[in-house]
Amino acid sequence: MTTVPTRAISDVLHPHAQRLKASDLRALFAQDSARFDRFSVQAAGLLIDFSKEKIDADAWQALLALAEARGVAQARDAQLAGEPINATEGRAVLHTALRGGSWAPEQVRAEIDEEKQRFLAFAARVRSGDAASASGEPFTDVVNIGIGGSDLGPAMAVRALRPFCDGPTVHFIANVDGADAMDTLAALDPKRTLVLVASKTFTTLETLTNARTARAWLEVALGDAAGTHLAALSTNREATAAFGIGADRVFGFWDYVGGRYSVWSSIGLPVAIAIGPERFEAFLQGAHAIDAHFAAAPLEENLPVLLGLIGIWRRNAMGLTAHAVIPYEERLARFPAYLQQLDMESNGKSTMTDGRPVLDPTGMIVFGEPGTNAQHSFFQLCHQGSDIIAMDVLVGRRSVGELLPGRGAEHHRHLMANALAQTQALAFGRTEEEARAQMAADGADEQTIDRLAPHRTFAGDRPSTTLVYDQLDPETLGKLIALYEHKVFVESVIWGINAYDQWGVELGKALAKAVTPALSDTTRTEGLDSSTAGLVAYLSAPDA
Ligand code: F6P
Repeated sequence: MTTVPTRAISDVLHPHAQRLKASDLRALFAQDSARFDRFSVQAAGLLIDFSKEKIDADAWQALLALAEARGVAQARDAQLAGEPINATEGRAVLHTALRGGSWAPEQVRAEIDEEKQRFLAFAARVRSGDAASASGEPFTDVVNIGIGGSDLGPAMAVRALRPFCDGPTVHFIANVDGADAMDTLAALDPKRTLVLVASKTFTTLETLTNARTARAWLEVALGDAAGTHLAALSTNREATAAFGIGADRVFGFWDYVGGRYSVWSSIGLPVAIAIGPERFEAFLQGAHAIDAHFAAAPLEENLPVLLGLIGIWRRNAMGLTAHAVIPYEERLARFPAYLQQLDMESNGKSTMTDGRPVLDPTGMIVFGEPGTNAQHSFFQLCHQGSDIIAMDVLVGRRSVGELLPGRGAEHHRHLMANALAQTQALAFGRTEEEARAQMAADGADEQTIDRLAPHRTFAGDRPSTTLVYDQLDPETLGKLIALYEHKVFVESVIWGINAYDQWGVELGKALAKAVTPALSDTTRTEGLDSSTAGLVAYLSAPDA
């Protein structure tokens, strides 16, 4: 059972926060030459270096004690065993069972395995051409229509695993903005395109609107045969049937798989089509390796637990609000967007599981872009802005593939050097004396030094965590995603919130339903506030 908090974390951690706020990372490193050894952890083929976070051994112990007191291990075990921990929706949370967790009930494992065999067999048939287009030709392109968890995971994974993609080309349409469907479909041949409609609920406005457009696009070219170019990934078989997709083309999952945790289910079909069933299994195995580690490792060696505790430390002891995720890996370009949903939709909550308001600030603003590109856009603010931004830097020990023999190593050396240099600059900065000395060494005159030294000074003392993996392959990607999934869960347990519901997305959806009719008939603006009514009138004016 989760222990619902009765005392604010900021209170519990206060003495440690005070002590460390009075110090800085330069001093912490100067005091302890073994800081890297003390605060870096290796497990499951990953290394995480927490030594550039503003913590010390006592703070670390206090965080571990907090995890104990808040029942992190018990909550983890309850989740893995399939207890209905998503209390506001009355559901179990079993995405871990999709990747082979032996902790889940046998019946759950059996239904998962059966459905996995179905969708992986379909992926294999699409790839081989056995599941062919209406004219009998193999599909050259696959379009996944979905949004949120039915888009971000697969889209991120297909991009991340590009060197392993040897099946039909996979495209993604998410936005209800018709430009998304138009720009994607206009470039494709409907006679060679398979459309996957991915929606857990099969009620999502964006997805159904795009699906109707795609079906019409197929019908123009194929007439009644359009149905052979459609498949659905959903828990709602009634709605998929009503949409006209035959049961043999519907690949299911269950309500115990949350949308943002569903890439491991049939929602992963576009990934399996792109990389093939065997590599998809490796992706699942990577995630399972982290699950097994999360389930068994002691808290002080448990990577997701430690990542979660650092999240709590950043937010509730250091008072930080923003969390940059910077993969030094171009192919992880969509990983920050994926994490945004995972983290912000899970932990952007203000009510505890027992209905009381939270005792501490919860989820952080997650954002990011790949390095080194991010260095040339928003890193200025990270280094010298008024607010301190927590940063996770992700980097591989090796890159995957190279354009020309021998060229890859140079690229990768620069990439790794930049990743490390940025965390150094954030942590240690550059004092005014150092800035002055450097300018003098470069031959600047006294007046120039006086004028520019304040601008060339970096306060430093800005925390980062560095996460190192071997190389970005399907197994590693599975590990990275599972690691962050569990990190988010650990934080939620400590905050006493439910990571697995998302009531905060409901209101806007309901209000959009009320605004839509007014946009085609302005006599229907009754009940709208004057701002919204005014904007409706302007947007739908005859000259618009
Ligand atoms: O907008 C919130 C949300 O419910 C997400 O949690 C979910 O991933 C997304 O919408 C899409 O939902 P569905 O897969 O049911 O279309």
